[in-house]
Amino acid sequence: MNTNFPREYATLRHRALRRARKALVIGATGILAAAGVISFSAPASAASTLGASAAAKGRYFGSAVAAGHLGESQYASTLDTEFNAVTPENEMKWDAVESTRNSFNFGSADQIVSHAQGKGMKVRGHTLVWYSQLPGWVGGLSAGDLRSAMNNHITKVMQHYQGKIYAWDVVNEAFQDGSSGARRSSPFQDKLGNGYIEEAFRTARAADSGAKLCYNDYNTDGVNAKSDAVYAMVKDFKARGVPIDCVGFQSHFNSQSPVPSDYRANLQRFADLGVDVQITELDIEGSGSAQATSYGNVVTACLNVTRCTGMTVWGVTDKYSWRSSGTPLLFDSNYAKKPAYATVLSTLGGSGSGSGGGGSTGGSGATCTTTYTRTASWSDRYNGQVTVTAGNSAISDWAVQVTLASPQKVSTTWSGSPSWDSSGNVMTMKPNGNGSLATGASTSFGFTVMTNGSPAVPTVGSCTAS
Ligand code: G3I
Repeated sequence: MNTNFPREYATLRHRALRRARKALVIGATGILAAAGVISFSAPASAASTLGASAAAKGRYFGSAVAAGHLGESQYASTLDTEFNAVTPENEMKWDAVESTRNSFNFGSADQIVSHAQGKGMKVRGHTLVWYSQLPGWVGGLSAGDLRSAMNNHITKVMQHYQGKIYAWDVVNEAFQDGSSGARRSSPFQDKLGNGYIEEAFRTARAADSGAKLCYNDYNTDGVNAKSDAVYAMVKDFKARGVPIDCVGFQSHFNSQSPVPSDYRANLQRFADLGVDVQITELDIEGSGSAQATSYGNVVTACLNVTRCTGMTVWGVTDKYSWRSSGTPLLFDSNYAKKPAYATVLSTLGGSGSGSGGGGSTGGSGATCTTTYTRTASWSDRYNGQVTVTAGNSAISDWAVQVTLASPQKVSTTWSGSPSWDSSGNVMTMKPNGNGSLATGASTSFGFTVMTNGSPAVPTVGSCTAS
């Protein structure tokens, strides 16, 4: 007697059912694909928050957070909705966690970390060794004592947060501004000499081998004497096997210190050393379309550097910014989305509505915003649609830039007049004929992208109107 019969029968029946199901799927797929309406791959439409849009590009979009504001519902809901990474603004600094030698207080920092963990957000640890926000007792130590205090601080703090921190700013702002390229005077530099930075990184790796170890600084965003000095240090570390995984570019910008034209090139030269790069404390003073355009340029630069793993703005709302009067953030003091928000979102490939516009430059008050939607996908290509909407006044012309990640290529476009840059990856779309739109009115253009194996979402830049 064949005792295997029931099992064999079940297996055969299962295989037959699987074949039937597969035939049905193939049949249905063929019909729908022929009709041009099937979507084989996500997303059917673009993400509508900063964090989700950045995630679709394989990156995080974070904010500095102050524990004291988490109880404010608008603060927490904006943070939780829009961001997928946090950096404690002050709570992990030396004066906050070890104001008395070897007595650690992690209360406020823990609050931020557990909030972030509850929401699935990454945490950047900021910062272990910095000349500022140091308790007085550190400055009074002898060299030997300072060395052991520094290593103890790094070890205890990192071990407390082991497994919870994506990246640590191990050393912060160790170089001087200006043309000297010299190290900044600090208790560490003055008593331990240049070697303290290397020692801090080696201690950090030993304390938590799972966290990425970053050097973080400001005024290093473009190619200049200060960034050259940091570059030389990172190159030397990589050559000698000193553990360093990433470099943070703070990116505090204003009219005196605008986004440098070689920002992307500078990020890329560091990435080429074999480290990740991150935009760690982004804020840009200003308002309206000028601010929006600068934000868009920063995001575009990060998206164009493969090893730029994420961006963090230095606060959720202008209300609590360290330079609040310069209104440098993406949400105003009432948590309304600013034009810069809309530009960042659309540059990240997301779609949604900001309260302003996606960075118009008409100079006459003419504004427009864009939303991007993937309307159909096939295994080798997809269709994208950009809807252009006039702002608070009628416009007579508009232009939108769409950047593709190589090796993707546009094979066809409709309802617009495209032109291309020399790389063939940046398309500027203008109206087909008359570009007039009444206040709040919309028009759309579309394009087919051959993916050539890349799943990337195109970057829709700001909309310019006149
Ligand atoms: O919490 C106290 C409060 O109790 C007290 O009444 C008040 C009076 O001054 O001070 C409050 O502490 C302030 C703290 O921010 C929290 O608001 C400190 O004085 C103030 O110095 C501190 O400023 C921080 C600054 O670092 C310190 O250097 C900013 O919030 C913080 O945004 C800023 O962040 C730095 C990064 O860590 C490194 N890169 C530059 C960046 C901007 O300066």
